[in-house]
Amino acid sequence: MPENLNSRRNFVKTIGSFAGVLTVSPALAAWQKETGLHIPAVTATEDVTKDEDFWGYIQQAYSASPNVINLNNGGVSPQPIVVQNALDQYNRLSNEAPSYYMWRTLDEARESVRMKLADLAGCSPEELAINRNASEALETIIFGINLQRGDEVVLTKQDYPNVINAWKQREKREGIVLKFINLDLPIEDNQLIVRQYKEAFSSQTKAVMITHMINWSGQIMPAALISRAAKKHNPAIQVVIDGAHSFAHINYKIPDLEGDYYGTSLHKWLCCPFGTGMLYVKQARIKDVWPMFAPEDPQSPDIRKFERLGTRSFPTEMAIGHAINFHNTIGIERKQKRLHYLKNYWVEKCLSIPGFSTITSLKPEFSGAIATFAIKGLAPGEVATELFKRSRIHTSATVWENISGVRITPHLYTPLKDLDRLVNTIHAIAKGNVTAANRTNSK
Ligand SMILES: Cc1ncc(COP(=O)(O)O)c(C=O)c1O
Repeated sequence: MPENLNSRRNFVKTIGSFAGVLTVSPALAAWQKETGLHIPAVTATEDVTKDEDFWGYIQQAYSASPNVINLNNGGVSPQPIVVQNALDQYNRLSNEAPSYYMWRTLDEARESVRMKLADLAGCSPEELAINRNASEALETIIFGINLQRGDEVVLTKQDYPNVINAWKQREKREGIVLKFINLDLPIEDNQLIVRQYKEAFSSQTKAVMITHMINWSGQIMPAALISRAAKKHNPAIQVVIDGAHSFAHINYKIPDLEGDYYGTSLHKWLCCPFGTGMLYVKQARIKDVWPMFAPEDPQSPDIRKFERLGTRSFPTEMAIGHAINFHNTIGIERKQKRLHYLKNYWVEKCLSIPGFSTITSLKPEFSGAIATFAIKGLAPGEVATELFKRSRIHTSATVWENISGVRITPHLYTPLKDLDRLVNTIHAIAKGNVTAANRTNSK
């Protein structure tokens, strides 16, 4: 960090303590009070992407294990301590008189969570249902929209398995037809992606599935361009968007994607309690979607018809608001930049390692925090095992369709030194592998 910035911060801290007031923004001040942590004062426009001081304070807001380097935050993210505490408090309160506190008090407060989520998502609260995860949100749509035998759905082989399986079940049961696109990732040309979808459209196409950020490699898909092409082909085509990895990771609002339906998990990049998700249905479409758990009027235009789950964890839902506060305190622009920086930080260092390759773009238009790599001659499972054995680095090994690699996902709390250890370990594994290959060749 530049000297002058450092001293300005100290100055700000000193003045703040003398005056007995906080000189940070109201959001930071509130968070500081809640967590007891000191946060350096930064202005809204200050670029903190490479400011390790700033991110050091954010690291303290989590309770990351000192014994394992968790680089599979894409699977599910940890909750900041404030969220864990809120969850505990709501849980203790609920246990004092479960049906009273959960059904009379906390259930009613779901409306404030809905409003906060709508604000974050850029849509009306009347278009958002709170549920347990992206699978539930997306399968509500996949099983709930009206389709006839012979109707075609365009999707990709790189969509999420639960999503593909749900469409396949409709294919088996009801005779809809699935048209798969096979993406050769990475793709740094949006028009090329759109063209592949367009080529799959026919007069029978009734729905299109788009994964906004592909979990296997972190590829950002041009969802709005694909939606637009679909609607141009036939305005009646229904567009379903999987936002599991993009929500609270990259900067956009749900309506920007121009889809009819959207589902996401909140326990990924928003760091909400485990088992939280959200479904968006465009207002005009709500009445035509059949809910998974039927209410009195399944054709109601009220989004709440998708929340008839029965008894669920109200404490879990209520703590969502605390995760949103935490996220807003950092701000999505800062978060996206930092996540992309962390990804590029380690990938760029690995590019010169013999045998290293990646299927993830380094450009911010096409990627965020996720990157997937391979070491020539080693299976992903072998690489992941070595990473853990040698350096206690937890990752996710993937072999799916045309994708084979180890997925690395840092999060905001990941320190650079953990990524340095990752780079050094990849280097050692690749070097050992090259040496072993040379030994075999010379025999
Ligand atoms: C692209 C994508 N969609 C959907 C899901 C399902 O999320 P969940 O397990 O929270 O339902 C995942 C989970 O990793 C995902 O990566």
